[in-house]
Amino acid sequence: MPEGSQSKARIAIFISGTGTNMAALLYASRLQEAAFEIVLVASNVESATGLELAKLEGLATFTHSHKGVTREEQDAAMERAVTEAGADFIVLAGYMRILSDEFVERWEGRLLNIHPSLLPKYKGLDTFQRAIDAGDSHAGSSVHIVTAELDAGEVLAQVRVAIAPEDSAESLAQRVKLAEHQLYPRAIAEYVSRGSDPDFLFAKLRELALALPETHEKDSHGSPGFRVGTEKSGKFFAHFSQQHHGSEHIAVLVKTSSMDELMGLVENQPGTYYKPAYYGASGWVGVILNRPNVDWEHVADWLERSWRQCAPSRLTKLLDAADQF
Ligand code: GAR
Repeated sequence: MPEGSQSKARIAIFISGTGTNMAALLYASRLQEAAFEIVLVASNVESATGLELAKLEGLATFTHSHKGVTREEQDAAMERAVTEAGADFIVLAGYMRILSDEFVERWEGRLLNIHPSLLPKYKGLDTFQRAIDAGDSHAGSSVHIVTAELDAGEVLAQVRVAIAPEDSAESLAQRVKLAEHQLYPRAIAEYVSRGSDPDFLFAKLRELALALPETHEKDSHGSPGFRVGTEKSGKFFAHFSQQHHGSEHIAVLVKTSSMDELMGLVENQPGTYYKPAYYGASGWVGVILNRPNVDWEHVADWLERSWRQCAPSRLTKLLDAADQF
């Protein structure tokens, strides 16, 4: 096992064809300090040429033909292989099968695709010919989160590729692939690293905290926090803590109702909660944000609870009234 691979995100790649994007991901994963490693290359086409390269490079491969089986059976076979390989993410790289809604739901937020158009333009097939026929100056490619609706999930990154007057769909496709090979490894690395990136985690937290009524951001002892009330006399209801006092956690500190509650949380769910230095003594619990699959609704619930403990009653009444609808 290469050094440091313990902390790398484990990705499974699904292909149906040549697998040049798979190759780009594979060689990116071999560079020093790569954020991900490839634990499986799986295909629905036994003769997919990409599988040959994957085998040559010593990657685990899996094939299950979609012919003569239902979509659900096909997806279940692929998913078993992914689970056995211990993958955290599935990356589609020219996988030309639509996945069942149930599969997509189960992998929500951990399933990514590359689509050869500047989404939201040209979802589906024949993207290059459609861009040429429309007289577009540029084609391109988009990396997006897969959702039940085809090619409609959040776009994470895009690259633009100029269309030449003499371009055919084939010549354009070739140039777009060159651009994809730059785009995909970078977009995947950024996405899988989000969960340990303090800037990303803080931005998410800020969005949720400032969505509560009459809140503002303010530093406290050099760390950002969020207060409810006026700029002058507001009260802190959340603190952002980034590996403070020797802790390895990036966390939001929120108010519990009692020391008993705090200790119960920390004891029963040590992967989610911890007792922070100083603040812990007055009942604040740390909700760990740099852990896999953080449930942001759960974080939002904690923020609201903490906010309620600090907000004046005129504001909590307002929120109660809004909750009725
Ligand atoms: C890529 O251009 C990718 O964007 C496209 O298939 C090609 C696969 O090439 N994907 C789709 O059209 C998905 N709807 P590759 O096998 O050489 O990576």
